[in-house]
Amino acid sequence: MERTLSIVKPDGTKKNVIGKVIDRFESAGFRVAAMKKIQLSKEDAKGFYFVHRDRPFYDELTDFMSSGPVVVMVLEGENAILKVRELMGSTNPAEAAPGTIRADFASNVQQNTVHGSDSPESAAIEIPYFFSSLELC
Ligand code: CMP
Repeated sequence: MERTLSIVKPDGTKKNVIGKVIDRFESAGFRVAAMKKIQLSKEDAKGFYFVHRDRPFYDELTDFMSSGPVVVMVLEGENAILKVRELMGSTNPAEAAPGTIRADFASNVQQNTVHGSDSPESAAIEIPYFFSSLELC
Protein backbone atom coordinates (compact mmCIF):
# COMPACT_ATOMS: atom_id res chain seq x y z
CA MET A 1 0.00 0.00 0.00
CA GLU A 2 1.32 3.41 -1.01
CA ARG A 3 -0.06 6.95 -0.65
CA THR A 4 0.24 9.86 -3.07
CA LEU A 5 -0.94 13.46 -3.10
CA SER A 6 -3.15 14.50 -5.97
CA ILE A 7 -4.69 17.88 -6.81
CA VAL A 8 -7.54 18.80 -9.12
CA LYS A 9 -6.16 22.14 -10.30
CA PRO A 10 -8.13 25.39 -10.84
CA ASP A 11 -8.85 24.57 -14.51
CA GLY A 12 -10.36 21.24 -13.39
CA THR A 13 -12.60 22.78 -10.72
CA LYS A 14 -13.64 25.52 -13.19
CA LYS A 15 -14.59 22.92 -15.82
CA ASN A 16 -16.62 21.10 -13.13
CA VAL A 17 -14.82 17.78 -13.65
CA ILE A 18 -13.84 17.08 -10.02
CA GLY A 19 -16.06 14.00 -9.91
CA LYS A 20 -14.87 12.74 -13.29
CA VAL A 21 -11.22 12.98 -12.19
CA ILE A 22 -11.91 11.19 -8.90
CA ASP A 23 -13.83 8.51 -10.80
CA ARG A 24 -10.70 7.75 -12.87
CA PHE A 25 -8.78 7.11 -9.65
CA GLU A 26 -11.53 5.11 -7.92
CA SER A 27 -12.25 3.06 -11.04
CA ALA A 28 -8.57 2.11 -11.16
CA GLY A 29 -8.86 0.75 -7.62
CA PHE A 30 -7.51 3.65 -5.56
CA ARG A 31 -9.13 4.82 -2.35
CA VAL A 32 -9.49 8.41 -1.21
CA ALA A 33 -7.80 8.57 2.21
CA ALA A 34 -8.36 12.35 2.63
CA MET A 35 -9.82 15.16 0.53
CA LYS A 36 -10.77 18.83 0.72
CA LYS A 37 -11.58 21.78 -1.57
CA ILE A 38 -9.48 24.84 -0.75
CA GLN A 39 -8.36 28.18 -2.19
CA LEU A 40 -4.56 28.51 -2.19
CA SER A 41 -2.93 31.89 -1.65
CA LYS A 42 0.02 32.82 -3.84
CA GLU A 43 2.27 32.04 -0.85
CA ASP A 44 0.63 28.60 -0.38
CA ALA A 45 1.23 27.79 -4.05
CA LYS A 46 4.83 29.04 -3.88
CA GLY A 47 5.46 26.82 -0.86
CA PHE A 48 3.95 23.77 -2.52
CA TYR A 49 5.97 24.25 -5.73
CA PHE A 50 9.14 25.42 -3.94
CA VAL A 51 11.06 22.65 -5.73
CA HIS A 52 10.37 24.52 -9.00
CA ARG A 53 11.42 27.95 -7.67
CA ASP A 54 14.22 28.35 -10.23
CA ARG A 55 12.11 27.34 -13.24
CA PRO A 56 11.05 30.11 -15.65
CA PHE A 57 7.37 29.14 -15.21
CA TYR A 58 7.38 29.32 -11.37
CA ASP A 59 5.68 32.73 -11.10
CA GLU A 60 3.06 31.94 -13.75
CA LEU A 61 2.42 28.48 -12.27
CA THR A 62 1.88 29.81 -8.75
CA ASP A 63 -0.39 32.58 -10.11
CA PHE A 64 -2.46 29.91 -11.84
CA MET A 65 -2.58 27.58 -8.82
CA SER A 66 -3.89 30.43 -6.67
CA SER A 67 -6.37 31.66 -9.31
CA GLY A 68 -9.29 29.48 -8.14
CA PRO A 69 -10.21 26.60 -5.84
CA VAL A 70 -8.40 23.28 -5.95
CA VAL A 71 -9.28 19.86 -4.57
CA VAL A 72 -6.40 18.24 -2.72
CA MET A 73 -6.59 14.54 -1.95
CA VAL A 74 -4.55 11.63 -0.72
CA LEU A 75 -4.97 8.47 -2.76
CA GLU A 76 -3.89 5.09 -1.53
CA GLY A 77 -3.36 1.73 -3.16
CA GLU A 78 -0.74 -0.53 -4.60
CA ASN A 79 1.99 1.36 -6.48
CA ALA A 80 -0.14 4.53 -6.16
CA ILE A 81 2.55 7.06 -7.05
CA LEU A 82 3.44 5.55 -10.43
CA LYS A 83 -0.06 4.33 -11.31
CA VAL A 84 -1.72 7.68 -10.56
CA ARG A 85 0.83 9.40 -12.80
CA GLU A 86 0.01 6.90 -15.56
CA LEU A 87 -3.71 7.70 -15.18
CA MET A 88 -2.89 11.44 -15.35
CA GLY A 89 -0.81 11.22 -18.55
CA SER A 90 2.12 13.38 -19.65
CA THR A 91 2.54 16.89 -18.20
CA ASN A 92 1.82 18.36 -21.63
CA PRO A 93 -1.67 17.21 -22.66
CA ALA A 94 -0.62 17.34 -26.33
CA GLU A 95 1.72 14.45 -25.51
CA ALA A 96 -0.61 12.60 -23.13
CA ALA A 97 -1.79 9.11 -24.12
CA PRO A 98 -5.43 8.79 -25.21
CA GLY A 99 -7.76 8.01 -22.33
CA THR A 100 -5.60 9.70 -19.70
CA ILE A 101 -7.00 12.49 -17.53
CA ARG A 102 -4.84 15.18 -19.12
CA ALA A 103 -5.59 14.02 -22.67
CA ASP A 104 -9.31 14.24 -21.90
CA PHE A 105 -9.55 17.39 -19.74
CA ALA A 106 -6.35 19.50 -19.76
CA SER A 107 -5.91 22.73 -21.71
CA ASN A 108 -2.13 23.11 -21.88
CA VAL A 109 1.14 22.29 -20.07
CA GLN A 110 0.33 24.66 -17.20
CA GLN A 111 -3.43 24.24 -16.98
CA ASN A 112 -3.13 20.47 -16.96
CA THR A 113 -6.03 19.62 -14.60
CA VAL A 114 -4.23 17.33 -12.16
CA HIS A 115 -1.11 16.98 -10.07
CA GLY A 116 0.33 13.78 -8.66
CA SER A 117 3.41 13.26 -6.49
CA ASP A 118 6.34 12.18 -8.67
CA SER A 119 8.23 10.05 -6.11
CA PRO A 120 7.94 8.63 -2.58
CA GLU A 121 10.16 11.50 -1.40
CA SER A 122 7.79 14.09 -2.95
CA ALA A 123 4.71 12.34 -1.53
CA ALA A 124 6.29 12.40 1.94
CA ILE A 125 6.60 16.21 1.68
CA GLU A 126 3.38 16.96 -0.23
CA ILE A 127 0.89 14.93 1.88
CA PRO A 128 1.72 16.71 5.18
CA TYR A 129 1.74 20.06 3.33
CA PHE A 130 -2.07 19.75 3.19
CA PHE A 131 -3.12 17.09 5.71
CA SER A 132 -2.38 16.18 9.32
CA SER A 133 -2.08 12.49 10.21
CA LEU A 134 -5.52 12.75 11.94
CA GLU A 135 -7.12 13.61 8.58
CA LEU A 136 -5.87 10.46 6.85
CA CYS A 137 -8.16 7.46 7.09
P1 CMP B 1 2.64 19.33 -11.97
O1 CMP B 1 2.61 17.87 -12.18
O2 CMP B 1 1.70 19.93 -10.99
O3 CMP B 1 4.13 19.75 -11.56
C1 CMP B 1 4.72 20.98 -11.90
C2 CMP B 1 3.85 21.80 -12.77
O4 CMP B 1 4.52 22.82 -13.48
C3 CMP B 1 3.29 20.93 -13.88
O5 CMP B 1 2.36 20.03 -13.37
C4 CMP B 1 2.75 21.97 -14.84
O6 CMP B 1 1.48 22.47 -14.43
C5 CMP B 1 3.78 23.08 -14.66
N1 CMP B 1 4.72 23.08 -15.79
C6 CMP B 1 5.62 22.15 -16.12
N2 CMP B 1 6.31 22.52 -17.22
C7 CMP B 1 5.81 23.73 -17.58
C8 CMP B 1 6.10 24.63 -18.63
N3 CMP B 1 7.04 24.37 -19.55
N4 CMP B 1 5.40 25.78 -18.69
C9 CMP B 1 4.45 26.07 -17.78
N5 CMP B 1 4.13 25.23 -16.74
C10 CMP B 1 4.80 24.09 -16.65
